[in-house]
Amino acid sequence: MLLLYLLVAQILTLSVGSETCPCTNQELCQPIQAEREFEVFVFDVGKKDWKFYDWSKVTTVAAFGEYDPDLMCYAHSKGARLVLKGDVHLPEIVDPANRTAWIKKQVNLAKAQFMDGINIDIEQAVAHASPEYYALTALVKETTEIFHKEIPGSQVSFDVAWSPKCIDKRCYDYIAIAGSCDLLFVMSYDEQSQIWGDCIAMANAPYNQTLTAYDQYIGMKIDPKKLVMGVPWYGYDYTCQDFSEGGVCTIPKVPFRGAPCSDAAGRQIAYHTMMKQLNASMSGRLWDKVQQAPYYNYKDKEGRIHQVWYDDPESISLKAAYVTKHGMRGIGMWNGNLLDYSNNPVARQQTKDMWNALTPTQGLDLQNSLLGS
Ligand SMILES: *[C@@H]1O[C@H](CO)[C@@H](O)[C@H](O)[C@H]1NC(C)=O
Ligand SMILES: *[C@@H]1O[C@H](CO)[C@@H](O)[C@H](O)[C@H]1NC(C)=O
Ligand SMILES: *[C@@H]1O[C@H](CO)[C@@H](O)[C@H](O)[C@H]1NC(C)=O
Repeated sequence: MLLLYLLVAQILTLSVGSETCPCTNQELCQPIQAEREFEVFVFDVGKKDWKFYDWSKVTTVAAFGEYDPDLMCYAHSKGARLVLKGDVHLPEIVDPANRTAWIKKQVNLAKAQFMDGINIDIEQAVAHASPEYYALTALVKETTEIFHKEIPGSQVSFDVAWSPKCIDKRCYDYIAIAGSCDLLFVMSYDEQSQIWGDCIAMANAPYNQTLTAYDQYIGMKIDPKKLVMGVPWYGYDYTCQDFSEGGVCTIPKVPFRGAPCSDAAGRQIAYHTMMKQLNASMSGRLWDKVQQAPYYNYKDKEGRIHQVWYDDPESISLKAAYVTKHGMRGIGMWNGNLLDYSNNPVARQQTKDMWNALTPTQGLDLQNSLLGS
C-alpha cells in the first residue's frame, strides 16, 4: 500500500513538476534566450505547414493552433521562439487576484510546454478610463514581469489594432502597454472594419492609411523598436450589390461597433485561394494607385460580380520598406498558413516571393554588396 502510494506520488510530481522533454536533443527544451535584432513574427494556426516556413527569417511563432511539440523542438533548433496565445474576457481579470491566477496559469502552461513567452490577443472593446482599461494595462505589465522572472529570455507581446485611435472601440492605454511589454504586434489589416464614407469595396490595408497610423504610434513616443508591423496574407472577397462602369463595387451595409458599414460584408480569403482564382478572373490583377493595392473582379456561378482586395509581394514590400526606414523591431503576418506550400512550381515561387517581400531591403543590401564587390 505504501509502495503504491509512493509510486503515485512520484508520478504526480513528475507530471506536475518536471515535464518530459519531447525533443530528441534534450537541450532544445531550454527557452530561447538570444535577442534577434530583427523580428519576423509568424502566427501559426495549426497542422504542419510550419515545416515549409522560411526559417532563415522566422524569429517568433505564436501558436494559435493546437500545441505541437515537434514545432517547439524545430523552432528552438532554429533559434526561434514559440509563444502561447493569451486571451481572456476582460471583466474576469479586473479583480487583481483573478488576474494573478490567470497569469500563473499561463506561465505554468508555457513552462510545461517549453515555450518562450506569450502573445496577448485581446481584441475587445474597452472604454477609456473604465475598470477594464486599467485592468488591461495591469494585465500586460504583470504578465511581462512574471514571464520574464519565470522563463528567462521569454517574450511578451501584445496585439493592437492598425491605429491607436480607438479603432473598433479599442481605447487602450497604448503608451503604458507598449512601455511594459516586449513588443506590440500592430495588426495592419481589417482596416475597413468601420467604413464611415461610401459603402464600397476597398483595400484591406491601404498604403497611406497603414503608414499614417505608424506615424501616430511613433508620434505618441512609442519606441519604434517596440513595434512589429503585421501584414495580411489574406484578402477580402466582396459580392457587389452594384458594379459601376468605372469598376466601383458597392457592398451591402453591415454595421460594426457604431459604423454603418464594414468589411464584415465581405469574406476573408487566403492568398493561396486567390492565386488559383486570379488568372481565370474577369479582370486579372489590377492595381489601385491611390491605395497601392492589388485587386481583381470575377463572376460567380450565379453571375454575380465579386471584387477581391488583397496584398501581394508588391504592396507588402512597399509597406515593409517603412519598417527598416523607421528602425522598427520587425514584421510579421496573419498568418503563416495562408500560402500554398505544395510542390507546384508556380505556387512555390509565389510563396517564396511572399516571404521575401517581408524583408525587401535584405534583397537590396545583397544586390548592393554584389554590385559593390
Ligand atoms: C474571481 O475569482 C473568484 C475565485 O476563484 C471567482 O469566484 C470569481 O467568479 C472570479 N470573478 C470573475 C469576475 O471571474
Ligand atoms: C494619408 O492618410 C491620412 C490619414 O488617413 C490623410 O489625412 C492624408 O490626406 C492621406 N494622404 C494622402 C496623400 O492620401
Ligand atoms: C497566371 O498567369 C501568369 C502570367 O501569365 C503566369 O505567370 C502564372 O503562372 C499563372 N498562374 C497560374 C497559377 O497558373
